Amino acid sequence: MLGLKAFEPNRDIASPNRNIAPISSEISESKKLLVGGCQLSELAKKYGTPLYVVDELTLRTACKTYMNSLKKHYPGDSLPLFASKANSSLAICALIASEGFGLDAVSEGELLTALKGGVKGKNIVFHGNNKSYAELDFAYKNNVTIVLDNNHDIQLLKKIASDKKPAKLMLRFTPGIECHTHEYIRTGHLDSKFGFDPDEVKSVLEQLKKYKWANLTGLHAHIGSQIFEVQPHIDLAGVMADTFRLAKEIGHPIADLNIGGGLGIKYVASDDPPSIDKWIEVISRAVVKACEEKNLDLPRLMCEPGRSLVANSGITIYKIGAKKIVPGIRTYFSVDGGMSDNPRPITYQSLYSACLVDKPLDSNFEKVTIAGKHCESGDVLLNDFFLPSCESGDFLAVFGTGAYNYSMSSNYNRIPRPATVMVGEGCVELIQKRELPEDLLQLDVLPDRFIAKN
Ligand code: LLP
Repeated sequence: MLGLKAFEPNRDIASPNRNIAPISSEISESKKLLVGGCQLSELAKKYGTPLYVVDELTLRTACKTYMNSLKKHYPGDSLPLFASKANSSLAICALIASEGFGLDAVSEGELLTALKGGVKGKNIVFHGNNKSYAELDFAYKNNVTIVLDNNHDIQLLKKIASDKKPAKLMLRFTPGIECHTHEYIRTGHLDSKFGFDPDEVKSVLEQLKKYKWANLTGLHAHIGSQIFEVQPHIDLAGVMADTFRLAKEIGHPIADLNIGGGLGIKYVASDDPPSIDKWIEVISRAVVKACEEKNLDLPRLMCEPGRSLVANSGITIYKIGAKKIVPGIRTYFSVDGGMSDNPRPITYQSLYSACLVDKPLDSNFEKVTIAGKHCESGDVLLNDFFLPSCESGDFLAVFGTGAYNYSMSSNYNRIPRPATVMVGEGCVELIQKRELPEDLLQLDVLPDRFIAKN
């Protein structure tokens, strides 16, 4: 893996998921890295580190490309939804809504954030394989579309929804398409905790038809994440169109087809995901073709991108601290964050790209390992990574951290979460405050009997 210089020249401005760095990245005259017109080392000094940085231009560009591509390639109605599990905060939800996106939520916390961020209930779909009564009730009261995942959902909703105000529902099923990053298989049945098994779908559709409180408006399936191939989604369109037809035959007023998310992004130079436009074009064609073959009116097409919308707008800035040389083996540099702000390397052995923010073009590379500060040997962000010679106090930018970093962050070792700033056109705004150690005590309760009495 090489530094910024290696991946900067061939930027795909329209499809942020095909670049490692945010599309506004540039090198200043003094050879420092700027994103959104802001010098990253200045942000680090002002807001502290670790610091999550979100580039507004990159995020808006990804949204606009999804929107425009749907308009260009799909002849029917469409509504893209942001899979907010990728990065849920008030500002991100508000920005996404301002671009015309709806949103997918999987908990009351994500629902609340979306609603307070200005996403309308009618543009939210609520997922989950074990929704609670309280969560379903909250979604129903806010006119959110509920994705039925199993019979438990149906039993709870029977108690919540009324014939006078039917619940708006989609049905999720496992389509028998399994994706790994670079391969996929089709099976009759998938060992997945999500959605109804294909064999159950017909009887569930018939059962729902008997309930006046149930208004089934759509179907949903999601086949995986960080996918580089397009064939799985082509196959998915065919499988979904079959079930769509079945639902219509049973008499449901079904109009929405939600094909989930999953488009991959470029984390390292060897990653080569399709562009957003290509992905939408292929899916649109497949849905149109499947509907023609099955003599169906075109559904409203929904998709649920998470990673490909937000990942490449995000950077995390760390400060390099301790250095340890293990002679003949490796040189460790430790940074002031790690697995609590980015659990993906330790969880999935994910690879990232990085550079020194004030020496992005230096090329006197040495092989180093960037370790986090947590009490865990596996807390390594970048293994055997080539960086220009660095020293304690240098700032390091890790790219592609806008998805599944903050949203999967923890307080392991009671380390507070970083702040998040949004940058654009030379301006910076705080969108999430830095947690403080005292914040972590707020929910602790110390029973009186533990308080020393002297
Ligand atoms: N829709 C549903 C129902 C999903 O389960 C997901 C992701 C998405 C949409 C969005 O998929 P995307 O476009 O982001 O690929 N924590 C893992 C990723 C888990 C994805 C879970 N579901 C990671 O850090 O790689």
